[in-house]
Amino acid sequence: MKKIIYPEQLEYISSFIKQDNVLIKKIEKYAREHKVPILSKASSKFLEQLIIITQPKKVLEIGTAIAYSSIKIGRNLSSEGKLYTIEKSRDIIEIAKNFINKAKLEDKINLLNGDAREIMLKLKTKFDFIFLDADKDDYKKLFNLSLKLLKKGGVIFIDNLLWQGFAATNKVPKKYILSTKHIRDFNKIFMRTPSLCASILPIGDGIGLGIKIK
Ligand SMILES: C[S@@+](CC[C@H](N)C(=O)[O-])C[C@H]1O[C@@H](n2cnc3c(N)ncnc32)[C@H](O)[C@@H]1O
Repeated sequence: MKKIIYPEQLEYISSFIKQDNVLIKKIEKYAREHKVPILSKASSKFLEQLIIITQPKKVLEIGTAIAYSSIKIGRNLSSEGKLYTIEKSRDIIEIAKNFINKAKLEDKINLLNGDAREIMLKLKTKFDFIFLDADKDDYKKLFNLSLKLLKKGGVIFIDNLLWQGFAATNKVPKKYILSTKHIRDFNKIFMRTPSLCASILPIGDGIGLGIKIK
């Protein structure tokens, strides 16, 4: 795996990360053991900071997996805040539900089971904050749907835009060639979207951050 920042700096920054609560540690362990991809600690901390700053009333997450990031969002919402999170895998959603119940966040988090490409077309509400973290070959479609659902002034937060460093290197292993192409194509679209003030930040696996300005 290619590094986005040098290991010494990463280790130095990581040395400040405090241990999270028992449930979060349990979810991290589950993700490691079952090879479920979840946000990095650095990216999830940044996501929590943005939720604290922006205090969104309505958040949409595309890609729940086992609800690691959902719980990190949910626990920072205000009393009026609500998270809608979409997951297409029926099996994984049961595990997500269990962790959300353990976190006592069932009133804050609305789990939607199905393909986001279909569910998002039916959503009637607009969102203050959207977190996109689904299959990379769906990013363009899900991004376009997200733009329609994002309020003016709203924030879109997208994971994996540096794609383990491969987005920015010529030496891409064979098995990553297609996914890297998807990410590179997507990054061009994201960074050139006129309605967004957008940047790609070297946090975790690369975070796309966009504010809807028009
Ligand atoms: C990287 S994981 C999400 C990790 C999670 N956000 C976290 O950090 O804890 C991506 C998840 O998105 C789901 N997914 C991918 N494409 C989807 C789609 N079109 N609709 C709904 N879920 C999707 C996958 O099943 C997978 O569980």
